[in-house]
Amino acid sequence: MINKEGFLHKIESKDLVIGVIGLGYVGLPLAVEKAKAGYKTIGFDIQSEKVDMVNSGVNYIGDVVDSDLALMISSGKLSATTDFSFVKDVDFVAICVPTPLDEYQQPDISYVRESTKMVGKYLKAGSIVVLESTTYPGTTEELMKPLLEQESGMKCGEDFYLAFSPERVDPGNLIYNTKNTPKVVGGIGKDATQLTAAVYRNVLVSDILEVSSPKVAEMEKILENTYRNINIALANEMAIICEKMGIDVWEVINAAKTKPYGFTAFYPGPGVGGHCIPLDPFYLTWKSREFDYHTRLIETANEINTYMPQYVVERSAKILNRFKKALNGAKILILGVAYKQNIDDYRESPALRVIRQFEESGADIDYFDPYIFEYKYKGSEKSGLLELTSDIIPMYDLVVITTAHDIVNYDMVQQYAKMIFDTKNVMKNVKNRSNIELL
Ligand SMILES: NC(=O)c1ccc[n+]([C@@H]2O[C@H](COP(=O)([O-])OP(=O)(O)OC[C@H]3O[C@@H](n4cnc5c(N)ncnc54)[C@H](O)[C@@H]3O)[C@@H](O)[C@H]2O)c1
Repeated sequence: MINKEGFLHKIESKDLVIGVIGLGYVGLPLAVEKAKAGYKTIGFDIQSEKVDMVNSGVNYIGDVVDSDLALMISSGKLSATTDFSFVKDVDFVAICVPTPLDEYQQPDISYVRESTKMVGKYLKAGSIVVLESTTYPGTTEELMKPLLEQESGMKCGEDFYLAFSPERVDPGNLIYNTKNTPKVVGGIGKDATQLTAAVYRNVLVSDILEVSSPKVAEMEKILENTYRNINIALANEMAIICEKMGIDVWEVINAAKTKPYGFTAFYPGPGVGGHCIPLDPFYLTWKSREFDYHTRLIETANEINTYMPQYVVERSAKILNRFKKALNGAKILILGVAYKQNIDDYRESPALRVIRQFEESGADIDYFDPYIFEYKYKGSEKSGLLELTSDIIPMYDLVVITTAHDIVNYDMVQQYAKMIFDTKNVMKNVKNRSNIELL
């Protein structure tokens, strides 16, 4: 049986040992926060390069402060390993592995399955396992619980506890981070929920909301991301209609957002990217089929968002046409390949699809991204410009802005570009607008 009082005492006395499985964008910041809160923390990853970097105090995640990581390593509070047998030394395991889609756009739950098996194999009696990866409702209870019981030979709720608590980190957000973003916890049974919430209350400074089950917590995370996906699709559809009607969609949204209630502003762009917004709704779409339900709104939203890179190419072709220039052979500079502003993550970035479609039409594409100097996409590699200078910009027939990074000198871009297609309205403060067209 789990000793609830004993576990609470370990939390209070900081004797609890925490394990974090998966040291990526979510796991590393979480591991550092847990160590900073005074808990001995062990990070686990299958990539030995990441483990070596962490153990050497070398940071590779933008949201982690370099000196925090270095200090946690040198003080011995944090360490990393590829050896899962150390799971036997931890009391609280947070799993933060990827949940991508497979080639058929279906959930690829293999990372959750494999990491759960490894945790189960070495799980200590009396410990808690929490899944933080975004996934379909039912993963914790239907997939993880039997796997953990099978691998450990123990019983959930009696020998160990299991919960789901979605990670909400927003990379690059300067206000909200892992430590101060409210967290939702849903465990299998009240004790699992309460003890998991107690751990987070001692690590984070945000509110911790306890919900009635893992399924509620799993579903609320999907709701958050689907809400964004659908609202971005609406903004994109508005942009397409507005262009046809000769209306500035950005002015429309800025006017609408003066309403103090009932409206939240979302903005159009070249599509959606990242490891969450374009993927997570499909986890629900897939699971819903089991219940004979077809998630029409989600799929329509996805259709619109997926069309946006092509729309950007079509609009660019129209701009070039005005200058009697064909897409085939045009020299185009793409500004930004990250999926969002001020970060170095290009997973699922719509800019990559824009580039691919331009290249398929015969355009000659260069890109500049101050955070990403080379990338790999669908088996090919591309290197970007190392710097953006006033003598390079006039060499292009068109500059297409696909990411709203703050550190680009947009006044210089305006001054030297022949023509600019700004899909993010990032040049809104540039005064001379004679060569700027907005999405
Ligand atoms: N990146 C975000 O902004 C964000 C925000 C909220 C939620 N999420 C969710 O968090 C989860 C993790 O996302 P991420 O962006 O941190 O992914 P990531 O790819 O950056 O990191 C995942 C890490 O897990 C490791 N890993 C894979 N299989 C493993 C295994 N069996 N054992 C141990 N380690 C393993 C990988 O090597 C990698 O280092 C996903 O479900 C994602 O949807 C991500």
